[in-house]
Amino acid sequence: MKAVILAGGTGTRLQPLTKIINKHLLPVGFHPMIYWSLNRLKLAGINEILIVINQKDLDSFLELLGNGEELGVKLSYSIQEKQGSGIANALKCARSFVDDKFLLLLGDNLFDDDLSPFIEDFRKGEYEAKVLLKEVNDPERFGVAILNEINHSIEMIIEKPKNPKSRYCVTGIYFYDSHVFELIDSLQPSSRGELEITDLNNLYIQKKGLHYDILKNWWLDAGTYEALFEANKHFFEKGKV
Ligand code: DAU
Repeated sequence: MKAVILAGGTGTRLQPLTKIINKHLLPVGFHPMIYWSLNRLKLAGINEILIVINQKDLDSFLELLGNGEELGVKLSYSIQEKQGSGIANALKCARSFVDDKFLLLLGDNLFDDDLSPFIEDFRKGEYEAKVLLKEVNDPERFGVAILNEINHSIEMIIEKPKNPKSRYCVTGIYFYDSHVFELIDSLQPSSRGELEITDLNNLYIQKKGLHYDILKNWWLDAGTYEALFEANKHFFEKGKV
């Protein structure tokens, strides 16, 4: 299975750190943040990876990672023309890379779970999309999933609700098949002008069903100062790897 990592965006909540440095190149433990996504994919046996970035960061990514040979993976890059135009819009950049079921990772999501069982389940499963959830104490920061636990389905996902009705956050680890691009084409920009991944996932819920699993171990979205510090503590304690 191939994977796509999104590493564009504006990193607004980490200003001024992200004024000249892309969020995914900031230090986390002994490595730049992007290393941890690549490492998780490699450990799960995924070697063919597309990284979506902003034009201004291409030279830095090439200098750090090149074609991935040093890490033992095969990397290619795609440029999101309009910086920060939304996660679903960034995913459009993967259209010619994707040929089958694939894994999408948001590059600021850091986690300890082994992806292998989820990949295997999606590979074998009949369903067309799947998200991984995590129970959190601050669901209002995320896309929140309302579950129907009786038939193991998601009824709806609400993006950053003021009064969350569940503590299950939709993490930035998604599985789709190549039909996802047809659904993205039918999306309209949200009130903040972005093509939202939550709107895409809600389309799956309405049209085809969205499978889910729950992460068991440590997970974090490193997009705020508090989270970035916590991530650094977590990976620093793991030592040099
Ligand atoms: O971390 C999980 C959350 O990620 C989900 O629960 C939310 O439903 C989802 O909308 C997203 O929320 P964030 O507010 O954290 O998204 P953020 O703008 O920080 O972008 C997440 C990643 O996607 C980040 O690594 C950069 C990349 N990105 C984002 C945008 C908007 C792009 O590559 N291009 C973009 O245009």
